[in-house]
Amino acid sequence: MPEQFAHISDPHLTHLHDVGVAQLLNKRLLGYLSWRRRRRHEHRPEVLEALSRDLAAHPPGQLVVTGDLTHIGLPQEFSQARSWLQQLGDARQVALVPGNHDACVKAPWQDTFELWADYLASDAPEPPLFPSLRVRGSIAFIGLSSACPTPPFMATGAVGKEQLQRLPHLLEATRDQGLFRVVFIHHSPLAGTEKWRKRLTDAPALQAIIESGGAELVLHGHGHRAHRRELETRQGMVPVVAVPSASAMGLHGADIAHYNRYAVSRTASGWTLDLECRGYDPAVDGFVTDDRQSLQLRRD
Ligand SMILES: [Fe+2]
Ligand SMILES: [Fe+2]
Repeated sequence: MPEQFAHISDPHLTHLHDVGVAQLLNKRLLGYLSWRRRRRHEHRPEVLEALSRDLAAHPPGQLVVTGDLTHIGLPQEFSQARSWLQQLGDARQVALVPGNHDACVKAPWQDTFELWADYLASDAPEPPLFPSLRVRGSIAFIGLSSACPTPPFMATGAVGKEQLQRLPHLLEATRDQGLFRVVFIHHSPLAGTEKWRKRLTDAPALQAIIESGGAELVLHGHGHRAHRRELETRQGMVPVVAVPSASAMGLHGADIAHYNRYAVSRTASGWTLDLECRGYDPAVDGFVTDDRQSLQLRRD
């Protein structure tokens, strides 16, 4: 029986209707103006409602969420996002990493990420939080945080030294257990694939670790566009798959909302990975399948 999970990203699900001027210091003011002008028309609650119906109709097992739940990382947005996460499912079924919008400016932990702690947590939570590890059947979900405050007009991320130090051991240990390793992160981990102001600043180091330690699948969001790349590693090819925003109408050059469903089966020579892309169709106010792929991942 294949094991299933789904990936969604960048829901930007919050609204800022009742935000006061005093809350809009520094970078948050720019983010607020961008929301008023553009983003509230792009990221729509009715699309997220259609997504919830689709997920409820075909529960995917584990759900991976790669950040940008908020617009400007205000405590009240963390609270709105917590309610949304609870609607998606129990924290044991929803694995979350944050995005750059969630870490817009430095904010007290207890007012912000503490509200999502059980969704960010590993199976056996102990500090530090990241990389996180959840094992579900034959699948290891390894979460990396790339979210950190950046100067105005910058949307970069960084994994940082500590996570880069811990990751090789985690990849090796889960490989030794014969698990299908899913690495998930908000920013693209591939060097040179993202615009300079949106890049992961330590992508070269992260990419080198994955090339050496291997993985079976890498998932990310952030660009609000779908694409699939391949990373050659010492243990075989690793698909690197980006999913668009889960709430997008597809204005201003972004892709319309999509999410991806995966099914994993072990084979004699490695793994079969089936990918189903489901996109929002405004004509039916629902998600429909618009692509399917089946990949053979050879592993020795
Ligand atoms: Fe985003
Ligand atoms: Fe982002």
